[in-house]
Amino acid sequence: MKNEKEIIEAVTAFVREAVSSHDSGHGWSHIERVVRLALYICDCEGRGDRFVVELGALMHDVGDHKFGAHNGPEEISRLLESLRVDGSVIKEVISINENISFSKGRHAIEKSIALRIVQDADRLDAMGAIGIARAFNYGGFKGNEIYNPHKGLTSNPGEVYASSKSVSTIHHFYDKLLLLKDLMNTETGRRLAQERHDFMITYLDQFFREWNPGN
Ligand code: ADP
Ligand code: NI
Repeated sequence: MKNEKEIIEAVTAFVREAVSSHDSGHGWSHIERVVRLALYICDCEGRGDRFVVELGALMHDVGDHKFGAHNGPEEISRLLESLRVDGSVIKEVISINENISFSKGRHAIEKSIALRIVQDADRLDAMGAIGIARAFNYGGFKGNEIYNPHKGLTSNPGEVYASSKSVSTIHHFYDKLLLLKDLMNTETGRRLAQERHDFMITYLDQFFREWNPGN
């Protein structure tokens, strides 16, 4: 029987290997940031099981289609069962993996505390200075324009995002990134999101001042 530290080490090695071939928006550094943020939120909130939160954050993107379309829940059960992790913990980690994403997350299911925390951490990593870097990195990866001034910015928020076809990276802010602040589940998430949101607004103001000098 392994202890929690050994289980975390084994899962870390597995996830690190699984994401090694992926684009940097979903690479290991994203997972590491989400783990750190989720544990920080867990500590500030003073609730949520730290072990479940850490496992959930580590495995939140396992099976993501951008990871190569494996079946997340199946991979998670296989690994955690081989490590003799408690059935109730496995169930929670799978629920985090299945319910974390932007589109799925908007439909009301009864969210566990651990899911609320990891979802906030994942969404926070798409905001602020890091979120901006990730967005332009993703846009570059897809060959998208940084901005297209000929298409309105707020046409179909959410829906445009769901089809993952933002007109430009600046449009992606209006389709998704500026909406995240109001989707936070925890008080700590809301506090961190406000700061990151304000920074994105400052960034966009500056961007448009540079794009339209004299306006
Ligand atoms: P998640 O990690 O929540 O599953 P996604 O897979 O949707 O997020 O996106 C990964 C990163 O790429 C995020 O930072 C997101 O903002 C960014 N991204 C997704 N779609 C676009 C897009 N069309 N333009 C620019 N950035 C994008
Ligand atoms: Ni993620």
